[in-house]
Amino acid sequence: MSDKKSIHGIWASRWVFIMAATGSAVGLGNIWKFPYITGVNGGGAFVLVYLICVALIGLPILMAEIMVGRRGRQSPVNSLIDVASESNGSTLWQLIGWVGAVAGLLIFGFYSVVAGWILEYAVEMGSGTFNGSNMEQVGNIFNALLADPGKMLIWHTVFTVLTMAIVVKGVNEGLERGVRILMPILFVLLIVAFGYGVSSGHFIDAWHFMFDFEPSKLTAKAVLSALGHAFFTLSLGMGTMIAYGSYMTQKASIGSTALLVVFLDTAVALIAGLAIFPIVFANQMDPGQGPGLMLVTLPVAFGNIALGQLFGTLFFILVGIAAWTSSISLMEPSVAFVVEKFKLNRLQACLILGGLGWILGIGALLSFNKGSDILFFGKNFFDMLDYVTANIMLPLGGLFIALFAGWVVKSRISREEMSVSPLAHQFWLVLVRFIAPILVLIVFIYNLLQ
Ligand code: PHE
Ligand code: NA
Repeated sequence: MSDKKSIHGIWASRWVFIMAATGSAVGLGNIWKFPYITGVNGGGAFVLVYLICVALIGLPILMAEIMVGRRGRQSPVNSLIDVASESNGSTLWQLIGWVGAVAGLLIFGFYSVVAGWILEYAVEMGSGTFNGSNMEQVGNIFNALLADPGKMLIWHTVFTVLTMAIVVKGVNEGLERGVRILMPILFVLLIVAFGYGVSSGHFIDAWHFMFDFEPSKLTAKAVLSALGHAFFTLSLGMGTMIAYGSYMTQKASIGSTALLVVFLDTAVALIAGLAIFPIVFANQMDPGQGPGLMLVTLPVAFGNIALGQLFGTLFFILVGIAAWTSSISLMEPSVAFVVEKFKLNRLQACLILGGLGWILGIGALLSFNKGSDILFFGKNFFDMLDYVTANIMLPLGGLFIALFAGWVVKSRISREEMSVSPLAHQFWLVLVRFIAPILVLIVFIYNLLQ
């Protein structure tokens, strides 16, 4: 076992690590993005591929990242350097960490804008705007928000400041205490929304939409976004889980911990889908309408149930908090690295990196109004940030992490660090050495050939 310690601190217990990792994983990816891309990609076939990717690619790579972090006890870049050299591997593996830090900033750019929508919605919900509302009214409110860069800028700025305020202090102060209570409450409120979906009379349609397998819907594009989303939703492929693993206590078991995080993340996504799609079908909406999906459906649900104003306000506040605990983890890898590399303090690192993320976010929020005709390969800036990170950078990062953990790290070291049974370790090795990399490559090649 390695007796290194992280200079950035350590999670107090296994439980705190689980909360932090789940806080990172569960976020807008589950509640905002999963339902909307399920809709865009036609439902069932997409969901099945996503679940397969989570199990065969996401889970083993999550274990790999935590393992590398805990072994290296530093930011992703420096952990990769140290863990590679311990196994006589090349220092070039650190590139995964550099690219990952950039990916984190790019994701932050659009993530913070969506989080801003959520905060605006919490206020609107609280002031009763959505009481008794119908789909059309809510749709108009959302479109008005997109047309108002000033309002989005305020919320984006608020969210950026909130994120950096926690990152400055170091992730294990403050963060953990909050998540421990808030995540369970979010779960309960999601069940309330889900209950509305069940009672809407269109639950069965939603179920069929999400779980009926239609091979014709298995386009190359759908398969790539399912793969990309498996990485995005589990915070993989960019170093977040390496950074969080580096603060994990030596005793905690990596296997069972990773399994629990994957389970919770997947459950939240599926419940969010089953809360949103019944409303979509009950109102003859287009499930493939895109990023606004949750923002034009859930306010209708909360606007039309008893105590909905209260539940709805709480719900949006909690989604905002879930987004917050995720965005913190988007910034942590690059901040930890800048602190180590350039000997800056956390405040300086946060000002620089938070500033960069904030500027990217301005580009993202302008792409819905003033900058809507500035296109990159046919996508506006917001969609481009999302596409390039989730569908390209994260799967590539994950591919290399799998290869690194499987082929470069000596198997004696990975077994010792993960402290799982020899059989489970063998099984994990097969997944990171062969299955996960081959599946990622197949999806990439399939897309290039289309
Ligand atoms: N997993 C987060 C979500 O689903 C997003 C995220 C991606 C966070 C990558 C950190 C790193 O919302
Ligand atoms: Na997630």
